[in-house]
Amino acid sequence: MAADVQGVLEAAGLTNPQVQEFVKEYAELTGAERIEVVNTSDDARLIQEALEAGELLPAGEGLYYSRSYYKDTARAEERTIVATSDERDKGTYNNWHPSSEMKPKLHDLMRGASEGKTMYVIPYLMAPAGGPLDKFAAGVELTDNRNVVMQMIRMARVGVDYINHLGNDFVRAVHVTGDLENLGQGTPDDKRYFVTVADERTILHFGSSYGGNALLGKIAHGLRQGSYDGWKNGFLVEQFMLLGITDKETGKKYNIAGGFPSASGKTNLAMTLAPDALGDRYYVEFYGDDIAWIWVDEDGKLRGFNPENGVFGVAKDTNEKTNPTAIESILPNSGAIFTNVAYNEKTHEVWWEGKGDKPADLDGWMDWKGDRIADRAEAHVDDPWAHPNSRFTTQLGNVPNVAADYDDYRGVEIHGIIFGGRARDREPLIRAIHDVAEGVYDGLTLGAEATAAADGLEGVLRYDPMSMRPFLSYPEADYAANWLKVIGQAKDKPLFAHVNWFQRGDDGRFLWPGYRENLRPLLWLMQLKNGEVKGRETAVGIIPTREELNLDGLDEQTLSDLDSVLAIDKARWQQEIGYREEHLKQFDGLPEEIWEAHRRVAKALEDEQA
Ligand code: GDP
Ligand code: PGA
Ligand code: MN
Ligand code: MN
Repeated sequence: MAADVQGVLEAAGLTNPQVQEFVKEYAELTGAERIEVVNTSDDARLIQEALEAGELLPAGEGLYYSRSYYKDTARAEERTIVATSDERDKGTYNNWHPSSEMKPKLHDLMRGASEGKTMYVIPYLMAPAGGPLDKFAAGVELTDNRNVVMQMIRMARVGVDYINHLGNDFVRAVHVTGDLENLGQGTPDDKRYFVTVADERTILHFGSSYGGNALLGKIAHGLRQGSYDGWKNGFLVEQFMLLGITDKETGKKYNIAGGFPSASGKTNLAMTLAPDALGDRYYVEFYGDDIAWIWVDEDGKLRGFNPENGVFGVAKDTNEKTNPTAIESILPNSGAIFTNVAYNEKTHEVWWEGKGDKPADLDGWMDWKGDRIADRAEAHVDDPWAHPNSRFTTQLGNVPNVAADYDDYRGVEIHGIIFGGRARDREPLIRAIHDVAEGVYDGLTLGAEATAAADGLEGVLRYDPMSMRPFLSYPEADYAANWLKVIGQAKDKPLFAHVNWFQRGDDGRFLWPGYRENLRPLLWLMQLKNGEVKGRETAVGIIPTREELNLDGLDEQTLSDLDSVLAIDKARWQQEIGYREEHLKQFDGLPEEIWEAHRRVAKALEDEQA
């Protein structure tokens, strides 16, 4: 096989000699039978092949459906490892192992594991093309899974022209699916490993075909490898959405980046439209929903872009009312792929919890595992039809409010940075933080409930620094220092804030309606930055007063819950300060500025009590 690899690559126009060497090495190791180089223009043919092979099912005109193996539906955090040759790279959360241990292990697992299969060579770029970050953003994913190819074409910029001129400046990303039925997922004999060898810019993932583990451009490169490269080269790589709000009356535009843990509202916020009740004064533009690369330009401006080319969105509760933009992004002929939702084999419709009324006629309906709903045993009639982490994949070009300049490598100026997550109490709707060190401190102490995006962790309350816990690639103290350094270079500092759309009442209901209404606290934040409102000073930040928030058109229940949503419970916060101290103590060598910020907040709380 190896002998004609060169010929195949040349014929496909893949001329970068270092890339050729990399492909040859892994073609030989994995024992793949054929090599195929992928360009975006191959999509229609690959889709056709996948439909014929039954790997994809039709879900309407130009829409597709796929299922992943039932034990392979979310990121597997405990199987995810950052490896380097320097033990000083070991952090609290990056699950560091020596590369001398992990590389042979992965090579053993991959040896011969793609026998009889095609190895697809996917050259990609995790950036809008043409800019100085291209050399950190380019990669080549090798995969033995056709579905992964089609997802990558939607999520990244794909084609040989992105990498031919880059020499050795590309990430080597190898994905081998493995025998999914015999990997012991979640047992002591688990054979899966998802390893980023960060100091060699090499990603080796074995044992999954789920997007978060198998689309190596997105999470392993776009976040884990990217943040390691950012540390060494002075930029930030974060699990952030990025949106722009224009006030048409004043002509001003504010861009806000925000980190919320997986499945905690980034995609919905970035796609949000102004609530109907606010008329058409505000226009919200979508830049990105999951990743932002952030740097300071020659003029001292903090800027960021979305490295992705698509959206990998959570299906649950996506409907016309919660997120009309998402619904418009997955219309017929958008090329969208639905994964692990419910599917009707006769009508080819898809459905998920919260999409709308559950279909009354069960004929043809199958749940996300492929089991007929009509055949369900008594004990299982109420089980969800779709997996809670079921997803849709669609390209940015399909998103109706995507910004005109989303494809510009210069990115946009960032005026605000927000952190948030699922917190059923304590965290108010929004609290603004003026001081940069306190903003970074706030990000480092982000505490929230984990979600179904990570296997086996749903509902677990944990600290998730800047929402990067599953993607951190280097020690937290260095991470904090890199943040202070980069933001320190910005002439105009961004305004930080913490938000929470997920407070609950005693009966478990959400106290804030969320979704499109989340624009209201962001509008207040813009006004605060502009000096138009003052808010109420508290020990943990500035909270909007009732009068300052635009409440037009909100229902009675929301208005009566609003005081709780804006309240600060001092006793709970003082208890939290103790927990934070324990959390931060784990990070050896944390910059003194962060400790100072911590003590300032603790002291302010104490004083407030007096
Ligand atoms: P992401 O994974 O961070 O991008 O989160 P998504 O925007 O995809 O949302 C994850 C889940 O949270 C979905 O089921 C959403 O319907 C739900 N969600 C998003 N925003 C809100 C909100 O403001 N309020 C409530 N209650 N749920 C939300
Ligand atoms: P999410 O992206 O943050 O939109 O859920 C995927 C993930 O982080 O696993
Ligand atoms: Mn994410
Ligand atoms: Mn998302």
